[in-house]
Amino acid sequence: MDLQLKDQTCLVTGASVGIGHGVAKMLASEGARVAITARRENLLNELADEIAGTGAERPVVIPVDVNSADAPDVIKKAVDDAFGHLDVLVNNVGAAAASPMDAPDEVWDNLFDLNFKPTRRLTSAFLPGMLERKYGRIVNLTGTQEPPAASASTAAKAAIQAWSKGLSNQVGADGITSNCVCPGRIMSEQVTERLYPTEESRQQFADANIPAGYFGDPEDIACMIVFLCSPIARYVTGTVIEVDGGMKRYSH
Ligand SMILES: NC(=O)c1ccc[n+]([C@@H]2O[C@H](COP(=O)([O-])OP(=O)(O)OC[C@H]3O[C@@H](n4cnc5c(N)ncnc54)[C@H](OP(=O)(O)O)[C@@H]3O)[C@@H](O)[C@H]2O)c1
Repeated sequence: MDLQLKDQTCLVTGASVGIGHGVAKMLASEGARVAITARRENLLNELADEIAGTGAERPVVIPVDVNSADAPDVIKKAVDDAFGHLDVLVNNVGAAAASPMDAPDEVWDNLFDLNFKPTRRLTSAFLPGMLERKYGRIVNLTGTQEPPAASASTAAKAAIQAWSKGLSNQVGADGITSNCVCPGRIMSEQVTERLYPTEESRQQFADANIPAGYFGDPEDIACMIVFLCSPIARYVTGTVIEVDGGMKRYSH
């Protein structure tokens, strides 16, 4: 199937490792022109070199802390300078971390800052151009819809889902889609280095919670994201799609 992504201009946030890294590679392999952003410039350049090594166009590297006050302006300028316009925005940046009930406000605020604010701010930066061109694809990475406990990152992701659904209503007639994709447990940096650092801990969780029986790879979720980024996904909008090996019904 031709996803018709050739020469589509795409921005992937949080692309230095993990899911964003996998999405950027898959978009490039489909012939898209890709811009990648995160804080670690060395990792972004490694990814750009890897993609260029396949014969694809070298991605535009935009090293920036997405929470800095000028991040949307910096990222938009770099994208405009390189591409002139943006067709596809993948709002992937985010992270989970413990946020007990009695955690200080700072812990909750920081997780909301990372898991909600950049998605809204970046979308606001690129939406006027999409509206003008009557075309756009916005894909937002969120989280479980069946949280086992009150958590700041899950609550912030739920806010994105409500925001994305509302947005999809507003921009649907302008050729713009907005969808959310919820990962179950995907082998990314935060998962393998922080949340489930051992093979034993991953297998234990998978045995108890994931019908498929294993943690997914970034490519498993990139397939869904890249489809939603494509022109042929024009009739899919306002959705929240789980890619989780069947985990959602059993999570606890
Ligand atoms: N993996 C899963 O199982 C899972 C499950 C549920 C939801 N999710 C969601 O899926 C998305 C991707 O997760 P992941 O597991 O692939 O995460 P990850 O491996 O931890 O990667 C996170 C990415 O975000 C970037 N980032 C973090 N803070 C940043 C900041 N302040 N400014 C700019 N970039 C920043 C990191 O790059 P730098 O450190 O270089 O800045 C990195 O590229 C997130 O929204 C996450 O909440 C993932």
